[in-house]
Amino acid sequence: MTMTHALDFVTVEGLLVYGHALARRTSERGLVQPTLREPSDDDSKRVHAKMEQLRAFVERAKSGFATAETYRSALAGLIDDQLVFFAAWNALLAEGSLQPLLRATIGAVAKPTYRRPVAIVPRTQLTPTLAEGRIVLELGDDRFWLLPRDLGNRTLFFTMRHGVSQVDSKTHRVGCRLPNQLDPERGFAKANAVGSALARMIGVVGQQLDFLHLANYLDPRTFLHCVTRSPNTRQLFERVSAALLQGVCTAEPVIEPALESSDFGWVTGLEKSVEIEEAAQAFGVETSTAKQLIKDPLYRYPDGNSFFELYVDVIDGLHRLGARQKGKVACLYTHSSTLRALMIYLDPRPFHEAFNEFSDYKESQDNVVLLTVEQGRMSGYSTAVGLSERERVARHTWVTVERVRKDRVTLKPRTLKRIVALVSGGDFAGAGAALKELHVTGHRMGLEVYFVRHGYLGLANNWIERVTEGHARGMGSHPSSPIGSSRFEEFKQETVQHLTIRHLEPYLHDGVLVVLGGDGSMRGARAIYEGFGVQVVGLPGSIDNNIEGTISLGFQSAVALADQSIESLKATSAAMGSVFFVEVMGAGSGHLALACAYQARAEGLLVNEHPDPNAYIDDVILGTLKRTLGVPNKSHLFVVAERTPHRHHKDGGVHGLVDYVAEVIAQWPERQAQPGHYPLTLATKATILGHTLRGARPIPEDKAIAQHLAHEVVHRLIESPDDIVGCLLAYRERGSTGPIPLHAVTPKQFDWEVFSRMHGNSRVS
Ligand code: F6P
Repeated sequence: MTMTHALDFVTVEGLLVYGHALARRTSERGLVQPTLREPSDDDSKRVHAKMEQLRAFVERAKSGFATAETYRSALAGLIDDQLVFFAAWNALLAEGSLQPLLRATIGAVAKPTYRRPVAIVPRTQLTPTLAEGRIVLELGDDRFWLLPRDLGNRTLFFTMRHGVSQVDSKTHRVGCRLPNQLDPERGFAKANAVGSALARMIGVVGQQLDFLHLANYLDPRTFLHCVTRSPNTRQLFERVSAALLQGVCTAEPVIEPALESSDFGWVTGLEKSVEIEEAAQAFGVETSTAKQLIKDPLYRYPDGNSFFELYVDVIDGLHRLGARQKGKVACLYTHSSTLRALMIYLDPRPFHEAFNEFSDYKESQDNVVLLTVEQGRMSGYSTAVGLSERERVARHTWVTVERVRKDRVTLKPRTLKRIVALVSGGDFAGAGAALKELHVTGHRMGLEVYFVRHGYLGLANNWIERVTEGHARGMGSHPSSPIGSSRFEEFKQETVQHLTIRHLEPYLHDGVLVVLGGDGSMRGARAIYEGFGVQVVGLPGSIDNNIEGTISLGFQSAVALADQSIESLKATSAAMGSVFFVEVMGAGSGHLALACAYQARAEGLLVNEHPDPNAYIDDVILGTLKRTLGVPNKSHLFVVAERTPHRHHKDGGVHGLVDYVAEVIAQWPERQAQPGHYPLTLATKATILGHTLRGARPIPEDKAIAQHLAHEVVHRLIESPDDIVGCLLAYRERGSTGPIPLHAVTPKQFDWEVFSRMHGNSRVS
C-alpha cells in the first residue's frame, strides 16, 4: 500500500488551484454542485494552519481509535472549509506524513503483518474420508477448500462485485451518491456468470467430485444476502441468488453500509480523464505524473472521502458483520472499491493466486472472494474466480503453446552427436560442476562437447571451443563459472541473434545448446528456440533462486558463504550490542535474503515482496530493537534484500535505513546516559555482501545437484528429446528432476510461511 511515489510535484498552491478547477466542473447526472466560494488571499496560510492540526491528528491516530466512528468524528471535527481541508490533507500525503494512518488501529482495522496460510487440497488428494462431513468448496483448477460442516464461531463471506454497469467505473467516478444500473447486455451476462461460478463453487450445480453428492453440503436457502444502496448490487443479487436457488428466489437482501462504494465528492459523475487533465494543468506536470497523486490510497477527493476512509469502513464493517452473523454464510454484493480495500488489508497474496495472470486486481474481472471472520479476525483464505471461460482459454493456450514447442523439436531419439554449453547472466557456484559433468557424461556417451566463453556474447564472437581433458580438469570445484559468463543486452536484437546462429550452425546438426543461467538467460534460450529452431535446453543457475519449481545452482553456496559473514557479524553484535543490517542481492526477489535470514536466526528481514516495508521498519525492526537493545549477549542483525523500496532513500535496501534507525534509537530515553546508568554506545552499520556471494565456492550439495542435472539432461536428450528440448530441466527436490517448458518459466513465489515462522507466527490452517 505504501509504494514510494514521487509526489514532490504536489504543492499547496497547486492543490488550491486544482480544487477550484474541479469545483467549477459540472457534474453530470443531476448531482448537487458544490457552492463555490471565491479563492481568498489567506487560503494558503489557512492550509498551513490546517496541516498543523492534521499532523496532531495523525500523532493522535498512532495510539488508535476505539471505533471507526470515533475516528470519523475526530476527523470530521477538523473539516470546516472543504477546500482548505482538501489541500492540507493532500499536501501532508505528498510529504509522507499520513503514512502512520495505514498502520493505526481503528476499530477492528489493524493491518495484519502476515496472512494465514491457505489450506487447499488438490483433487488428486481429496478422498471421501477427507470430504466426509465437511463443506467442500471448489476453487477451480482442481483445488478444493474444506471447512468444518458446522461453521461454529466462523462467518463465511462470498464477496462479489457488481460487474459492468451503465455508468462505467473504468471511465467515470461513480461513487455511492450516484445510483447505477447494470448494463442490460454485458452487465446481466456477467452477473449470471458470477452466479453460476458461485453455484459451481459450492456445488449447487454439477457434481464437484464423483463420490461427493452435493445435497449434503451448504444450503443456499439459509444464506444472508447483503447489498448496497446502488441498484446494480441488487441486480447482481437477483441473478446470483437465482443461480444458487435454481430460480426460486425467496430471499430478500439487506442493505449493508460497509459495502457502499467510495464517495468521490465534487468529482462524482465526472470523467476520470477530465479529473486527471485538470490535475496535470494545476501542477504543471504530465498526466501520468498527476495520476500518481490521485491513485494513492490516501488521496482525498475534494468534498469526498479519501480511499483510506472507505478502507476503514469496509474492514471494520465486515468484522462487525462477521461478529453479528456467527455460524452463517453471507453473500456480499458490492463494488470494486471494496475488493481494493480487501486486497490492501489482506495483503495481495490471495489475490495473486486468483489474478496471477495480471498480478493485480483488474476491475473487469468477475470473481468471488472467499473470506472468513473468526475469533474477531478476518482472513482471505483463498479466492475463487468465476471465470470459467478464462480458465478454459488459459488451458487452451497452454495446450496450443505446448504443441508448438513439441513441433519445434527436430532432434530424434538416439541421434544426438554434440553438445554446446554456455553460462549466461550473473555467475554462480556450481556452474563448473555442471560443465564438468556435461563433459564427462557426454564423453562417455560418445558425444562431442563444446564450451562457449562468456555466454551469448561469446556466441556472437564465435568463442566456441571443443573441450579437452586438460581443459575440464579441476572444473568440478571451480567457484563461479570456469568458462566465464556475461550480460549481453544486445542479444535481444534479432540481428545479433542471426549472427549468433550463424556461428552455431556447424554444431547444430544433431546438436544441442545447453544454457546455464537464470530467468533472463532462459528468455534468451526461448528466443532462439522459438525464433530459429535451435535445439536448446536450460539448466537453472542463479544465486537469486527465483525460478518457480526448481532450486537454482549457486543459491545454496551463496547462502553458505553469507552465513559465514552473518555469523561473524552476529558474534560482534552480541559482544558490542551493535545493530547490523546485512544486504544481499536478489534482483528484486527476497528468496536469498529469506534463506540467509532464516538459517542465521536474524531478528528480521526486509524484502521487496513485503506489502508495506515502511511499516515493517517501524513496527518490526524498531519494535524488536526497542525490546532487545541492552539485553546482555543479544545480537541484533537484520537481513535486507537489495533495492527493497522504502521512504528513507530512493535506492532502498540498506541505504538510508541505517541512519534512520540510528536516529530513532538515539532518541529513546533508555539510550540516554544518566548518573548511574551508562548505556552501551551502539554502532548501527550496514554490510553489503553483494557480489561476494556470486563468487562463492560450490558447497557439496550444489555440486551434487549440478552433476545430477547435467547427467540427467544428457540422458534425456539422447532418449526422449521431445520432452526436454525447449525446456528447462528443473531440480525439484532431492534427486527429482523434471522439465519445465521455457515458455512456462515463471518467477518463484515468496515463501510467506517461512517468513511468518521466522517472526513467530504459527501456522493456522
Ligand atoms: O542475477 C544475479 C544477480 O547477482 C542479482 O542478484 C543482482 O541483482 C544482479 O545479478 C547484479 O548484477 P550485476 O553483477 O550486473 O551488477
